Amino acid sequence: MIIAVDGPAASGKGTIARALARHYKLPQLDTGLLYRAVAEKVSRIGLDHTIEADAVAACDFDDALLDDPVLRSDEVGKLASIVSAHPLVRAALFHRQKRFAAQPGGAVLDGRDIGTVIAPDADAKLFIRATPSIRAKRRHAELRDNGSTVSLDKVLADIRARDLRDSTRSAAPLVAAPDAALLDTSFLSIEASVQRAIELVERQLALK
Ligand code: DC
Repeated sequence: MIIAVDGPAASGKGTIARALARHYKLPQLDTGLLYRAVAEKVSRIGLDHTIEADAVAACDFDDALLDDPVLRSDEVGKLASIVSAHPLVRAALFHRQKRFAAQPGGAVLDGRDIGTVIAPDADAKLFIRATPSIRAKRRHAELRDNGSTVSLDKVLADIRARDLRDSTRSAAPLVAAPDAALLDTSFLSIEASVQRAIELVERQLALK
């Protein structure tokens, strides 16, 4: 069984994907981490994120990099959004994601193009949304808890810029697959979002 979970930054898709993986006892891949690892490697070797060949040269990163907490920072997220717009970077990471999705027993993958490109035949597809201002508030609270003093306005501006870049790029833009179930978490608690996600997956599985 393959479950695809897509959506914009800070929509709650990571939390929902982890909860679904636990619920269905499936392995989970946060595909954003792959793009984040490429972005971080480009920085470490002193190359330019906006140049496709530079970003491609960083696609053979060491897997240990995926465990580095620096990948979770907003700065790396922003650079990941830049490298992920290069078609050759997406091509370089494609097979790794396909292999993960094809494991016997299935998998949960979350990202931007799982239901559209990586696993178009997924058994269940969710597209998670929340308004930009609510996503900014959540991300701002998280950053504040981690000691950051960044303003809410700056977080909101960053979220809007990332949405625009992720949804207007020509290669695999952020868009809901036509057969994905939409889940808006704007006014839902984490528990209610997870509950609703399980119901939506169950409904799709029942129609198979
Ligand atoms: O989900 P995230 O914030 O970790 O993702 C970081 C960036 O990586 C995001 O802005 C766009 C890119 N990304 C992508 O293009 N395709 C994916 N499947 C996952 C992430």
